[in-house]
Amino acid sequence: MRHKSFYIYTFGCQMNVHDSEQMGALLRDSGCLPAADPAAADIVIVNTCSIREKADQKAHSLLGRLRRMKKKNPRLIVGVAGCLAQQWGEEFARRIPGLDLVVGTHNIHLIPEMIARVQTCGAPLVETSFRDEVNSIGIFAPPGNGAVSAFVTVMQGCDNFCAYCVVPYLRGREQSRRPEDILEEIGKLAGRGISEVTLLGQNVNSYGASFGNGYDFASLLRDVAGVKGVERIRFTTSHPKDLSERIARCFAEIGSLCEHIHLPVQSGSDSVLTAMNRGYRAAEYIKKVDKLRQMCSNISVTSDIIVGFPGETEEDFRHTIRLMERVRFDGLFSFRYSDRPGTAAAGFAAKVEDKVKRERLSELQRLQDGITLEKHEAAVGSVEEILIEGYSRNSRAEISGRTRTNKIVNLEGGPEWIGKTVPVRIEKAYLHSLRGKLV
Ligand code: 5AD
Ligand code: SF4
Repeated sequence: MRHKSFYIYTFGCQMNVHDSEQMGALLRDSGCLPAADPAAADIVIVNTCSIREKADQKAHSLLGRLRRMKKKNPRLIVGVAGCLAQQWGEEFARRIPGLDLVVGTHNIHLIPEMIARVQTCGAPLVETSFRDEVNSIGIFAPPGNGAVSAFVTVMQGCDNFCAYCVVPYLRGREQSRRPEDILEEIGKLAGRGISEVTLLGQNVNSYGASFGNGYDFASLLRDVAGVKGVERIRFTTSHPKDLSERIARCFAEIGSLCEHIHLPVQSGSDSVLTAMNRGYRAAEYIKKVDKLRQMCSNISVTSDIIVGFPGETEEDFRHTIRLMERVRFDGLFSFRYSDRPGTAAAGFAAKVEDKVKRERLSELQRLQDGITLEKHEAAVGSVEEILIEGYSRNSRAEISGRTRTNKIVNLEGGPEWIGKTVPVRIEKAYLHSLRGKLV
């Protein structure tokens, strides 16, 4: 029998990217083969994101396209997974005729069995129940041949209920994975030549809170650093309120922990932070960044900011600008607020006009672009340690890697350098990357 081929589209965060890797690993284990082109695949899965309206719209327009593909080829199996699948469940199957599978965030492990079932029993099949133990958390999904870096899930879900955020409803309550299992997985990855791991969770700083034995994220970082072969450790994402001094100290004390933290601030206004239910004030955030920089002078700090949260006044926005000027982030992801179904903020009355949101976003992005470029220019002339990850994005004649501070560096070189950590002199600075030369 011919093996079925599959293609997975991925929207959303790194967590979703890793979920897609896990789906791919499961499908390969069940005898399917990855297809290079979705038009040639027997199974197409759309792994969706619901965090902002835009991601939601993109997934819906793709599903419309797949529906037309399915009309031409009724044997095509179309599945939707991820956060939108969790959100809409049965209704998805009703609204989009031709959809075969709807797989929620806790049910990835069921995909192969659902595909087998759909071929014999017919569609649509919907699995969106929440489980006490997320079975997919430990699915081993080593990245493809030649990869240098891998994601490792350390926790799932979120208990914070920020007023704008749909994640706690779609990914469930916080669950930490057992340290033994995490360390075993990292050991296996290192054995396959992976030298960089990124520990993933919605809020890694509260890792271990449910263990009740004092083992926390700092303990985990120290244990991961002890795994032979792991040269670089990264993690994402952090919540400022849970960033303890113990974790900050890890940046000073663990040699393999890269000097970068993504620490979403969301706003620089205390009244907006309160309405968002973030659990800290702007001054406390700044103090934590100062502490990190005191522990580790060259740490790079990146962040997320939402503009136009309901009730955000011009003065609130000025506070955000002032915080950015004070902290000077190395990089920033910024978004216009959008209502997400079921969240507290969706019910807040004082919505900000879209025009105002756009103006605030572009002012903020202009400011950040200037800061990012200045920081990149300051790196010119220095020698950085780069882990070469592969060819550069734009050219096969060049290779590319990242500094420990997570900045992309392109340079001349061939594939023989991939996987090696090398000193590179930075020669040119751009907004989104640096250029350098092997020393
Ligand atoms: N509207 C706009 N941005 C949002 N984010 C999360 N929810 C919303 C929303 N409803 C942003 C936050 C978060 C990032 C992943 O997405 O900044 O940190
Ligand atoms: Fe999007 Fe959040 Fe789901 Fe990640 S967890 S895919 S960011 S909604």
